[in-house]
Amino acid sequence: MNKADKRGYPHYMLKEIYEQPEVIENTLKDRLIPGSEDINLSDIKLTQSDLDGVHRMVVVACGTSYHAGLAGKYLIEKFAGIPVEVEIASEFRYRDPAVDKNSLIIAISQSGETADTLDAMRKAKQKGARIIAISNVAGSTIPREADHSLYTCAGPEISIASTKAYTSQLIALYLLTLKLAQLKGGIDRETYRQRLEALSSLPEKARKMLDCSGEMKELAGRHKDMEKIIYLGRGLDYALALEGSLKLKETCYIHSAAYPAGEFRHGPMALVEEGLFVFFLATQDALLDKSLANLREIKDRGAYVVALAKEGSREVGEVADRVIYVPEVPDEFTSAPAVIPLQLFAYYMAAARGHDVDKPRSLVKSVTDS
Ligand code: AGP
Repeated sequence: MNKADKRGYPHYMLKEIYEQPEVIENTLKDRLIPGSEDINLSDIKLTQSDLDGVHRMVVVACGTSYHAGLAGKYLIEKFAGIPVEVEIASEFRYRDPAVDKNSLIIAISQSGETADTLDAMRKAKQKGARIIAISNVAGSTIPREADHSLYTCAGPEISIASTKAYTSQLIALYLLTLKLAQLKGGIDRETYRQRLEALSSLPEKARKMLDCSGEMKELAGRHKDMEKIIYLGRGLDYALALEGSLKLKETCYIHSAAYPAGEFRHGPMALVEEGLFVFFLATQDALLDKSLANLREIKDRGAYVVALAKEGSREVGEVADRVIYVPEVPDEFTSAPAVIPLQLFAYYMAAARGHDVDKPRSLVKSVTDS
């Protein structure tokens, strides 16, 4: 039986959501060596002196891959201390970007063939930058033309809405971050060891997160006719909110929007009316107090709030109308399990609305024309 059939699931999207614990395992396999604190990224041949010459990094990507890149920014800046900009590839390719031999580019592409990302990478290469490609398709053009490559081991992703590829991109970025941090010497040994341990727990945390499937199906059934929804989050939860919002847009054709929760008061708060559905992502312990304040503000204005929060965040449960708890992992790695309820919600909403879940209107799996 080849990996690309539905294996009894009604849609590829649901099958690919459920494959994520195994995909995380496969992306970590052979890179985390039991008993060793080294990370084996065989195709990333960067040395410490290479990194000493890197003044900044630039991620170029589109869509869901861009959202994974945003998460990578937070992590690389925090643990490796290298400035990272995340660029929409279709914007980057038509600018005259200030990149040069001291720039290190990360081109993220599930298909490895997206025209905008490929051209953005080529433009950066022409200017002397070195390229790391993160891709899911071995031998595809982007990793083939890059200087270094890091494959996500998600297997064939058939559904146009990306799920398991996104999560495997996050895992690849977690691994790359720790490798860069180790090379730069920017992380203390205890923190590094703790993060390695947390990485190896992610398949189990993702497996546990799948238990919310029935609740997400019930929630989607109850709200299947809604036409407006807002996703809010701070820090990594904002990068995650963008991905949750895109999933709903592309599978349900709903006008959803994602905002940094702290920015909400600078205008978008005016959108809040009685009963507006708000998905509030509050998984970051370090930002919990600020998130709670935002949560109270939108509740006071009549929103219906479903929150994502770390297990034990009792206060979030007291304020939100519903809360989905995410298993305890360090803030930096929470997005990998926390995206699962957002994916499931979009899936069940699309199914309840009778859409062609795996082939949403007007979309293709890989945008290879310029
Ligand atoms: C993801 O759900 C979308 N289908 C789309 O945004 C996709 O992520 C984007 O087109 C980039 O594709 P790539 O990762 O193959 O480059």
